[in-house]
Parts: sequence; structure tokens; C-alpha cells
Amino acid sequence: MITITDKYSKDADAIIYNGSCYEFVKKIPSESVKLVVTSPPYNIGKEYEKRTDLDQYYKDQEKIIDECVRILSEDGSICWQVGNYVTNGEIVPLDVLLFPIFTKHNLKLRNRIVWHFGHGLHASKRFSGRYETILWFTKGDNYTFNLDAVRIPQKYPNKKYFKGNKRGELSCNPLGKNPSDIWEIPNVKSNHVEKTIHPCQFPIELIERLVLSMTNENDYVFDPFLGVGSTTAAAVKNKRKGIGSEIMKEYWEIAVERTEAAYNGTLKTRPMHKPVYDPADPKINLNYDKELHSQTQQTLFEKKRKYEVINENR
Ligand SMILES: C[S@@+](CC[C@H](N)C(=O)[O-])C[C@H]1O[C@@H](n2cnc3c(N)ncnc32)[C@H](O)[C@@H]1O
Repeated sequence: MITITDKYSKDADAIIYNGSCYEFVKKIPSESVKLVVTSPPYNIGKEYEKRTDLDQYYKDQEKIIDECVRILSEDGSICWQVGNYVTNGEIVPLDVLLFPIFTKHNLKLRNRIVWHFGHGLHASKRFSGRYETILWFTKGDNYTFNLDAVRIPQKYPNKKYFKGNKRGELSCNPLGKNPSDIWEIPNVKSNHVEKTIHPCQFPIELIERLVLSMTNENDYVFDPFLGVGSTTAAAVKNKRKGIGSEIMKEYWEIAVERTEAAYNGTLKTRPMHKPVYDPADPKINLNYDKELHSQTQQTLFEKKRKYEVINENR
């Protein structure tokens, strides 16, 4: 059975605090967290936030980011997921605004991941926004990164060299390919299996990719703006420890429930790697299930054969 507490405790599987992150984060010991991942309020007047001027927003974000850097371990990562601040039809990309706060701490940017999704507001005076970004920073150069844990199936897993001394050998990595820095993952809208009352929750598969690649089992994952607990759920589902704070009581209650269900294996989630539904190719999901469980793909994942890694260290 999972142990969830609302106060910082070393014995808990998850610590989920109902209140403000600004006070809660002070209780977390320095250099104890392997991954901080969050989507802060965007200051656009959602039901859970009060719109302030951008200077004040910047100062508030700086306060929590400074603390997140303090609690981050030497081999740890921070992933700050944001979209745009919008005023009078003019947009301010929040990753551009907040970037100097991270670099002030000498954090190193490893990727600016583009999260692309298909649904959102329809703009009439500019192009409709269909992506947000994740700034992935590490504290140092010696950081945890388990690429094999998040490889995605190759498009042509059986492709072989057809000439030269490797003729007949597999030409692509049999463990799958690097998912790249453009992630097409459906956002959580009304027909999504993970939908709750929260207006903008993370898809769990997005956080799982970060958790699996940037942490090891039993590491701590912290989300200061936890919402309905997608981060803590993704953490405990994958045998990590989850920490989070959420100011709104009704979201906090759902966060506790979802984290417990994820631990018990009863939380319904959209599986990682499932292709995005394409109405022009409705069989794609069926083919995915067949492909994932096919003998070929299994064998490819299990047999760690020698392969040539092209350009992966760039
Ligand atoms: C963009 S949402 C995050 C949603 C979350 N990623 C999820 O999957 O549910 C931001 C959340 O931060 C919460 N919040 C706002 N100010 C906060 C604060 N000072 N401390 C903790 N949570 C706060 C809001 O209530 C909201 O749920």
C-alpha cells in the first residue's frame, strides 16, 4: 500500500501538500531531488490564477525557480513546461521570458522540446497555437539520461544494410529510435481517457518520458504546481517517489486519489508510444498494438545486438 503524506517525510512514497509551493519548497532538503518538472500558471487568467503584470509574474517565477535549483541534485534536471502569455492578441513566449532565470544559475540547456498537439483555441487574427515547449536544463554535465528507456519503435525495424561488409545486418538501432525533440502527444481534452475537472492537466505519457529518461528508481520527482497530480502519478507508476504542492483543495484531492491509483495500477492512462489517431488512417492504432506485441518488435527489444549509432552524440 502506498504511503502518501502532506508533510515532507523520508518514509513516504509520495508527499502531496495542499498549499502554496513558495512555503512548501523550503521544507525540501537541498540537492535531494533528481527531477523538477512542472507547468506553472501562464498568468492568462485561468480559474486557478490571478492575472498580474509580467514583472510581478517574472519575480514570482524567479522565487520558485531559485528554490528548485537549490533542491536539485548535482546529476539532476529541471523541465519547465510553458506556452504563451497573451495580451491584446500579442504573445510573449514564456520560455523566452524565463530563460535568463535558469542561466543565471549556470544551468545547462539540453533540449528545448516542442510539444505538438492537435487541439486548442481557433485564432482569427493569427495562426492557431498548436505547440508548447519544455525547457530541459541540467545542473551539471554529469546528469542522468536513460535514452534506452524511452526509445520509440523504429518505422522500419527490419531494415538491413544491403551492401558492404555489414550486408544483411540490421541498419537501425534494434532498441528503437531516439524520440527527438519534437513530441506529438495529444493534450488532455474532454474525450481523453485521463480527463479530470482540471482545465489544463499534463498527459501522463509526457511526464513518463521525462521521468524514465532523467531519473532512476527511488529518485525524487518534484512538481511545485502539481494540479491534479499527473507528475506524482507518473513518478510512483514508475517506482520513483513523487513530491508536489497544489494550492486548490479540489485539485489536491484528485492529485492524492490519482497518485494512489497510479501506484496500485488502476489509473487509466493513455499508453506511451501510442500513435496519434489519424482519421485518414483509422487502422493505425490497431497496427500499433499488433506491431508492439509482434514477435519481431519483442525480439528486437530483447536482443541487444551490435548496432551503429549515427549522430546520437550531437
Ligand atoms: C498549469 S496548472 C498545472 C497542471 C498540472 N500539470 C496537472 O497535470 O494537473 C498550474 C497549477 O498550479 C496551481 N497553483 C497556482 N499557484 C500555486 C502556488 N502558489 N502553489 C501551488 N500551486 C499553485 C494551480 O491551482 C494549478 O492547478
